Amino acid sequence: MYYDPDKNDHGLPHNPFKSCVAPRPIGWISTISLEGIHNLAPYSQFQNLTFDPPYVMFAANQNTRGERKDSAVNAEQTKEFVYNMATYDLREAVNRSAAEVPPEVDEFELAGVTKAPSVRVKPCRVAESPVQFECRYYGTLRLPGNGTMGTVDIIIGRVVLIHIKDDFITPDGRIDLLRIRPLARLGYYDYTTVESIFEMVIPDGNEALLAGLEGKRLK
Ligand SMILES: Cc1cc2nc3c(=O)[nH]c(=O)nc-3n(C[C@H](O)[C@H](O)[C@H](O)COP(=O)(O)O)c2cc1C
Repeated sequence: MYYDPDKNDHGLPHNPFKSCVAPRPIGWISTISLEGIHNLAPYSQFQNLTFDPPYVMFAANQNTRGERKDSAVNAEQTKEFVYNMATYDLREAVNRSAAEVPPEVDEFELAGVTKAPSVRVKPCRVAESPVQFECRYYGTLRLPGNGTMGTVDIIIGRVVLIHIKDDFITPDGRIDLLRIRPLARLGYYDYTTVESIFEMVIPDGNEALLAGLEGKRLK
């Protein structure tokens, strides 16, 4: 089958689009407003963009009232945000932090998670999360969309400090993703986690190609 997303003529009981790019990592984004209120929200339209130096992005659609989301506004106004890794153990807190609440609400409190001060930026980190990136705002790409929520602000930030909990580093120096169980979005109301890992190396890859795959800097 194929369908035209402008017409949504897929004929299925639920829109399949979000299941066509899956699984999607969840950037659990913390920001602080100019008034000093702490904000926290999950974004599955999230990705790393490059690795040297690392940049990440999250894409904030407008809210159900057609307004720009607090995470986008705060990141733009304060020029900072933090990425926290969402995990299976933290799934209920992640979900609570998605509630559409006024900017005056402290969403760390709403989610029931602990604030850990950041080192280089003002927004706090989620202490319970195993991996966090402190990010400096780089820019916004605004894509026009349909309906109240369609228009989206793609917020790009440069990662300036990376925190990894020592407990989750294996004896051979890798991040232990099987223990962390990062949370990811499928389509519909569905989620998944990392439950198995296998390794593949590009055949006959030269040193530079393999360095890029691993994210290693070559001189
Ligand atoms: C797992 C999950 C992923 C989400 N991903 C996105 C997303 O990528 N973009 C978006 O605009 N909203 C997304 N949402 C909804 C926002 O988290 C929600 O609108 C939140 O209230 C935004 O908060 P803010 O206004 O404080 O930024 C997601 C919700 C959940 C539960």
